[in-house]
Amino acid sequence: MNAEALTAALAADRARVDARLEALFAGRRAPSPRLEAAMRHGVLVGGKRLRPLLVYAAGRALGATDAALDTPAMAIELIHAYSLVHDDLPAMDDDDLRRGQPTVHRAYDEATAILAGDALQALAFEMIARSGHPRLAAMIGSLAEAAGRDGMVGGQALDLAAVGGHPDAEALATMHAHKTGALIRAAVRLGGLTAVAEDDPRLAALDAYARAIGLAFQIHDDVLDVTGDTATLGKASGADAARDKPTYPSLLGLAGARDRAAALVEEAVAALAPLGAPGAPLGALARYMIERDH
Ligand code: IPE
Ligand code: IPE
Ligand code: MG
Ligand code: MG
Ligand code: MG
Repeated sequence: MNAEALTAALAADRARVDARLEALFAGRRAPSPRLEAAMRHGVLVGGKRLRPLLVYAAGRALGATDAALDTPAMAIELIHAYSLVHDDLPAMDDDDLRRGQPTVHRAYDEATAILAGDALQALAFEMIARSGHPRLAAMIGSLAEAAGRDGMVGGQALDLAAVGGHPDAEALATMHAHKTGALIRAAVRLGGLTAVAEDDPRLAALDAYARAIGLAFQIHDDVLDVTGDTATLGKASGADAARDKPTYPSLLGLAGARDRAAALVEEAVAALAPLGAPGAPLGALARYMIERDH
């Protein structure tokens, strides 16, 4: 797939999930207008929608229809959006800008941002639970594991504990695998589970792919924090160094971090071999994840 075709395909999937998310919020309102507005701000304004793109690409690679993939695509983005709303809170990264807009606690207030995150998380599980999919229990289990103690939340705890410290390569990889990798793996797994049963060996190939891109993605996020500018990123650049966060560039240097991300992407592409030609869009997506400028 050439760069132009990839850009068009990604834009089409982004438009698809954006329309579904708009419809989700248009269809039902929270009893509190302030909470409703904060949730919309956290989800509907901006975002690359990478995790939904992974749901669509992984699901299609195993034969799922686009219509069946819409609910998991939305659910994973709701969990991700919640994680960002809480990540930006003063008690965590204390950021003012996200997706080119004031962060939710800046646009509203801290309590509303906490509640909006809580409600977004619950909404994600509600959507999958109501989907009627024959494997919805497996999907809920995977998403809960990836979101919670053993996944994103566990990784965020490691991240906060690591401030000012000097973790070695293994500890940094563990932190990244949890805080970011877990939801990326869940996106790929939910796409796969939409199409096939849990014992299908192609899910293991997808998981090897997802593990590698999950780490590559967060390494590139760390690199962009150093090399990107605030306007392009839509969030403050230099924030990691300002807060003394251990990152891949701080551990390996910029060139070392970039090399590591590129090697992981090649590992990810190699892991797709058992999928044959239908896996090709996932390979293109992996490369895009470390070539993006925001
Ligand atoms: C940012 O994720 C947070 C990380 C896990 C590094 P994205 O770079 O996917 O953010 P959006 O969704 O496009 O805003
Ligand atoms: C965010 O990592 C991980 C989660 C939101 C779970 P970062 O703190 O590096 O993400 P950004 O840079 O603020 O987007
Ligand atoms: Mg953080
Ligand atoms: Mg942050
Ligand atoms: Mg970051």
